[in-house]
Amino acid sequence: MIEMVLGKETEMGLKELFKANAEDYMLLSFLADKLEAAGRKEEAKILREKARVEMGHARGIFEKLFAHTGTESMLGQFTKEEAEEHVSEYNNVAMKAKEEGHADIEAMLCAYAEQEKDIAEATRKVAKAL
Ligand SMILES: [Fe+2]
Ligand SMILES: [Fe+2]
Repeated sequence: MIEMVLGKETEMGLKELFKANAEDYMLLSFLADKLEAAGRKEEAKILREKARVEMGHARGIFEKLFAHTGTESMLGQFTKEEAEEHVSEYNNVAMKAKEEGHADIEAMLCAYAEQEKDIAEATRKVAKAL
């Protein structure tokens, strides 16, 4: 069931917070992996616990956005952003990396940018089929 339309500022703020919490979750989880690999099990455990809290925040925020927006609109927006912003952003950073002498980073980002296009294509198909 779709609830009342979200206020513009609220919606934009929730989207930003969703991204921030998702990012925090990923960073803490990946750092926990590194600590664990380095034998720092206790410290890794603490970071993992906090990562789970961050994921809970992301989930809570997602549920609020979802209740007011729904799958079609959220997937449609995702597809649009993934296709446009993502690819141009990737190419932009890849170019900067090349300029600054990081050929490995340029190559990685160019490969990822191709995958971003595929992701956008796949989510466009799913959104269309709904
Ligand atoms: Fe958080
Ligand atoms: Fe992406």
